[in-house]
Parts: sequence; C-alpha cells; structure tokens
Amino acid sequence: MLQISTPTAWASRIASIIVIISLFYVVYLALHSWSTRRLWTRKHGCQRINTRHHSTARGLLCGIDLMYDSFQAAASSKFLSNTYTLYSKLGNTWSTRILGNPVIHTIDCDNLRAVYNTNFRDWGFGAFRVNSFRPLLGNGIFAIEGPEWRRSRDLLRPAFAKSEVSNLEVYEKHFQQLLKVIPDSTGDDGVIDLQPLFFRLTMDSATEVIFGKSVHSLSTDKEQSSAARTLGHAYEKAKSEIFTNILLYPFGRLRWWSGLMPAVKQVHGYVDPIVEEAIAIAQRDAESTVDKPSYDQPEEKKKPYSFLRELASCASKEKIRGELLSVLLASRDTTASLLSNTIFILSRRPDIMSRLLDELAPLDGQSPTYPQLKKLAYLDAVLKESLRLHPVAPTNTRTATRATILPRGGGPDGTSPVYVAPGTQVVTSIYALHRDPKLWGAAAGAFEPARWLSRVDRRSPPHPFAFLPFLAGPRQCPGQGLAMAEAGYMVVRLLQTFGIRCAPGEESHEWVEHLAVTCENLRGCRVVLGDSGGM
Ligand code: HEM
Repeated sequence: MLQISTPTAWASRIASIIVIISLFYVVYLALHSWSTRRLWTRKHGCQRINTRHHSTARGLLCGIDLMYDSFQAAASSKFLSNTYTLYSKLGNTWSTRILGNPVIHTIDCDNLRAVYNTNFRDWGFGAFRVNSFRPLLGNGIFAIEGPEWRRSRDLLRPAFAKSEVSNLEVYEKHFQQLLKVIPDSTGDDGVIDLQPLFFRLTMDSATEVIFGKSVHSLSTDKEQSSAARTLGHAYEKAKSEIFTNILLYPFGRLRWWSGLMPAVKQVHGYVDPIVEEAIAIAQRDAESTVDKPSYDQPEEKKKPYSFLRELASCASKEKIRGELLSVLLASRDTTASLLSNTIFILSRRPDIMSRLLDELAPLDGQSPTYPQLKKLAYLDAVLKESLRLHPVAPTNTRTATRATILPRGGGPDGTSPVYVAPGTQVVTSIYALHRDPKLWGAAAGAFEPARWLSRVDRRSPPHPFAFLPFLAGPRQCPGQGLAMAEAGYMVVRLLQTFGIRCAPGEESHEWVEHLAVTCENLRGCRVVLGDSGGM
C-alpha cells in the first residue's frame, strides 16, 4: 500500500542523507590526507618533527593558553626575547598546535630558503593575515596573493627604479625641516627623543615619494602639521589594532568596530581626497595628450615620476588607496625604526661613532651624493648590524596552500625532511635567526659592525638565508634600496650637524621591544645634541 510521507518524515530523511554524506566526506578527507602524507613521506624520506611545544593540560585548551602567553609576552615587551629562549631550548625547528591547526616554528636557513624562495608557490599569507589587513589596505599589495599580487608588484616596480632611489634631494628637504623643529622638541635638560621626530620625518618623505606631495607633519605651521599628525595617530592606532587582531585571530574580528574601523575611517578620509585629485589630474592629462605621443611633449613639461600619478592612470580609487597605504605601511615605520635604533646605539657606543666619523671626514661636512653614500662601507655595516640585532620586521609567517615539505627539522637529529600538510602555518622569528650563535658566533648578541667588513664580500652574511631583514625570494622587500639610502643619508647628515650623546643616566638602559606590525624601541631614542666639532 502506498505510504504518504509527512513533511516531518521528509525532513528527517533529508537530515539523515546530509549526515551520511558529511560522514563520507570526513572519512574521504581523512583518508586523502593520510595517503598524501604517506606518499610524500615515502618519496622524500620525511620524519616527524621531534620537538613539540605543548599546550598545557595536554592540548585540551587547543593552544588558547599559548595564544594567551604570546599576548602577555607582547604586552610586557618580551615577545621577541621569549621566542628566542624557546628556540634555544627546543632547537631550530619545533612544532605546536593553535586552535587545532599545526604550526611549525623554524629558523633553519634551508627551510627558510624553501618557504620564501624555492617552494614559494606552495605558500601563501593565510587567511589570518589577509583578513586582518584588508579593512585598512583593501586589495593593496600587502593583503593580496597570486596573480593579483603579481600585477601589483609589476605596477609598483618603476617606483623602486635606481633613479628614484638615488634622488637624495627629497631627503635633504625633509632633513632641513627636521632641523627646524629640533629646538622646540628639546627639553630644558637638553634631552630630546628623536624617535617620534623620525616617524614624522619618514611620514613626510614617504608621502612625498608615494603620494607625490608630503603631508608636512614636521611643518612649523600648526594647522598643517596638526592635520598630518591626526593622520599619523589614526594610522598608528589602525596598525596597533591590526597587530592585536592578528594575535587574537580569529577572535580579533569581534573588536573591529570598537577599535580598528574608526581609525581606518579616519585614515581613508585623509587619503581619499588626495587619490580623487590624482585621478582627476590623470584624466585631464590623458584628455590633453590625446593624439600627442609622449615624445612630442616638450622636455620641461615631462613631470618627474610620481607613483600616485602612475597608479591614477590605470587603477580604481579603492585599488590606488590600497596600494598607497600598503607602501606607506611598508616604508614609513620601518625606515624610522631603523634610523632610531641606529642613532640609539651610536649614542651609546663612542668607539663605533668615532670610526664612523673618520669615514665621513672626507665629505668635509657636505651632504653626500648617491655614489658617495654607496661607498661608505662602515656606514653600510652599521645599518646592517642595526637591522641584524633589531630587525624592524622581526617575525614572519606563511601558510602552506598545498602539501609540501620542509627540507630539515625531522627525525631525532632534526636533519630529515618534514611533511607539511596544507593549512600548516610556518612562523619565523627573524629576531632569533639574526641572533643564532651557530650562524653568527659566540658574540651573536653583540653590536659589531666590523663583522660585515671582515668577510671577503662585505655584503654577504654567513648563509644566504641567515640575514633576512627585508626577507628574500619573490616577495622580498622592493624598497630596501630606498630604505638604506634614506636611513644612511639621514645618519650622515645628523652626524655632520651634531655631536650626539646618550641622555645622561640612560647609558645602561637597554633597547626594549614595542611590537605593532613592525617593531620599534619602547624607550625611544633619547639623546643630547651638541656641537658636531666642525665635521
Ligand atoms: C628598513 C626598512 C624596511 C624594512 C626592514 C622592510 C622590510 C620588508 C619585509 C620584511 C617585507 C616582506 C613582508 C612579507 O612579505 O611578509 C617587505 C615588503 C615590502 N616592502 Fe619593505 N621594508 C623596508 C622599507 C621599505 C620601503 C622604504 C618601501 C617603499 C618605499 C617598502 C616597500 C615594501 C613593499 C611594497 C613590500 C611588499 C612586497 C610584496 O609583497 O611583494 N619597504 N618589506
């Protein structure tokens, strides 16, 4: 007899079918992952990573306690030193789990070569990085991957051409502006914290290079500098919110509307009119040069390369804004921190200062040209040593987009390859890498620029992947030439203008980390600026 099913019976049948299909799918996934692991393990002779860093309570907390530890360590300025201690205890490659996901920590140079260079296609940023940066950067280069990233990289390439890097006039202009605000920023005791001024200096130079006009945060015109400082504060707030959200990922999203979004709105509000104006100019230029090829333009009408103008002629408003803010994020704080860390150290090390002054003496107080700057070998060594001990981008991560291997870290002696399942995160502490005594010797923790001069080729570190302040491989920093030129130029001009000493009573104060995407010195750069003694 024909049975008529009621709606409830149908619903329960459909539910059963869904459960059965889901179960099959889970079993299929498990078998697929098991067989892939087996295949790769056999093919490459992979072994398990021997050292694990366990969540307490045998993993019952799913690594939430480890996340909490990282958060606490960052809040008490011990994130980098804690990670260094873990590497010293657990070896160069170790693993853990966060919220059930496998995480491998490694500072093994062969692994870094594989992740960042040779097996580059097997690795991506991972959703946590892309999602955390997206509200601020949209689809700017820092938050995109694959072919979209390749297009951005090609778009930005001309900005990093040698002729742009060697344009030192822009730095001299902002250096002169810095000199004007120094007296007002100096305390009655003669002490000045140069770090915030360096952040304003690089904001001005970066916006000039990137936006085509400076925001003039060092201006003595109160109205102009206060608008620029509002941008600076909003931008810093957004950056520190992004860092906190990364640490709390995926829960950071819950805080977006209270912390991140108001700051993002302010930053976008500042940048949008600049972008709109550039687009309007690009449209006008395009209309006025219709049928007039560029070689027909009179020489004096050819404008110098402007990064924003180039973008404005070929991208949407959102894309341009994302690229501008990505490059600003990448360039401004990094270069300011390099400058601040270097002066902080020089003010405490008269021996290094005096050798540097000897090198600068032949310039006779004149600002260096680009070729002269490039020849200052000791200055180059000082900057590299500063980036080695205090890398301004001290941690980096990648996530495996498909099954792959790391060449080392497996087996009891850690020398066998390791199978890496898709979704595994690899975290690298550049800070710990740069202080590894196996690479840098017993005095790895000491500031010794001479270590860069004693090598046959002074540019080469002990291993091609031992010194990664700018990372390596296809996504390595395209702005390193600009950064080294700007920081080097400013150090030379400061030493030519002032005798720089550490603030009295602070000689024994150590450098203290302050992480917010990039890393700066919590103590700032407190010095006394005296006479340069006729440099
Ligand atoms: C001391 C100064 C600097 C340091 C230490 C530094 C470091 C880095 C690092 C480590 C990366 C790779 C980030 C990653 O993929 O996870 C990077 C990327 C990048 N940097 Fe720099 N940077 C500096 C200055 C600059 C400057 C001055 C500019 C531009 C004017 C710049 C533009 C970029 C861009 C556009 C990227 C993204 C490249 C890509 O994803 O393909 N950087 N930088």
